[in-house]
Amino acid sequence: MPTSGDAAPENPDTASDYLLITIPLDSPLSGAEKDFLGMIDGGSGKNGFFFETDEQALRFYVRSLDTKAFARGIRDLIRKRGGPDGECARLHQVFQELFERIESVRSYGIRGGKRIYATYNRERKVSGRQHKVKARGSFFYALDHGFERTENALPEEFRNRIIAGDSGEVLRALPSNCIDLVITSPPYNFGLGYDTGEDGVDWERYFEKLFSVFDECIRVLKYGGRVIVNIQPLFSDYIPSHHLVSHYFMQKKLIWKGEILWEKNNYNCKYTAWGSWKSPGNPYLKYTWEFLEVFAKGDLKKEGSRENADITADEFKKWVVAKWSIAPEKQMSRYDHPAMFPEELVMRALKLFSYEGDIILDPFNGVGTTCVAAKKLNRGYLGIDISEKYCETAERRLKEIL
Ligand SMILES: C[S@@+](CC[C@H](N)C(=O)[O-])C[C@H]1O[C@@H](n2cnc3c(N)ncnc32)[C@H](O)[C@@H]1O
Repeated sequence: MPTSGDAAPENPDTASDYLLITIPLDSPLSGAEKDFLGMIDGGSGKNGFFFETDEQALRFYVRSLDTKAFARGIRDLIRKRGGPDGECARLHQVFQELFERIESVRSYGIRGGKRIYATYNRERKVSGRQHKVKARGSFFYALDHGFERTENALPEEFRNRIIAGDSGEVLRALPSNCIDLVITSPPYNFGLGYDTGEDGVDWERYFEKLFSVFDECIRVLKYGGRVIVNIQPLFSDYIPSHHLVSHYFMQKKLIWKGEILWEKNNYNCKYTAWGSWKSPGNPYLKYTWEFLEVFAKGDLKKEGSRENADITADEFKKWVVAKWSIAPEKQMSRYDHPAMFPEELVMRALKLFSYEGDIILDPFNGVGTTCVAAKKLNRGYLGIDISEKYCETAERRLKEIL
């Protein structure tokens, strides 16, 4: 298959080993525009690239390319046909976009003056791969989980509700196996001024409390359901919270499904540890990212109907690459909460890991970002936060959604 793409090319004997770049079109190409394309690639793919078009897109499949000669050749052709404002005006725009997209591809090899976009870093083949995977015993730590498959309905009084209370206690009133996905960002324990002032206790107490809430989350989660924990290790205390949390869920027999690196690009970290400057004595590492740890209960596959999957092909392609560059939330002062996550982060997670109609739980709901995203994406929700004030703000935000 092409290294990036959603359709196998019908063209030549070349259905594999191409990078695919798709340029959307407002309307299908005219006959003259198609002729123009034919002049460039001849339809054979022997130049290391070829085009395909349909009603909505121009697809450029490329294996190797002299990018400068390619752009020069096309610009010459456009010039001969009256220039950017002539009969090729639209193609001029399309190719400008294509040139930019080609330039934005940063990983390629170089051979004979050409960029090699596919197969230059092909992974070594492992013979008998399936057999070896089986012999190793994937997620061996979770195989004897013993989770029940029977699902229960979430009682009406918890459906699409924001509840003020200690989530450990509130969750105890829920039946087992009634939630499709938990997504949450727990209090970080670095003394942020939450409304209830509870952040910043000793680490043992912190984890004991956190894990008791996670126990309830695991219990209420359906078989095949997911838990996603957004967590920032407290590097200044040398506490790798993301490892401890992952270890806990694995001990509880959930499958570690993966880890998303949320790159916040907040480079202006304000403090520098004394003594760290230009000395190996005790350099202090700085981080501009956080983690989303993803776990599955019982099965990696979540059952659901395909019509209820709302992620687009483009989103899927981008978001399965597990490094998400998303700016930190900008509205924290508006909602008067010191540690919100951005709606975009939750939106991506919900579309990638849940179906429309699923029930989403956030046991540390803050001012309701999870529930807002869930409501906008036609999922049900339950949000719990210990602060009445945050719950009121969450309710207000939800009411504002049309
Ligand atoms: C990092 S914030 C979550 C913010 C949320 N993601 C948002 O975007 O608004 C953690 C939240 O956990 C809440 N919290 C702390 N202990 C709690 C508990 N035992 N039960 C429920 N909520 C709790 C705090 O009030 C705080 O709002």
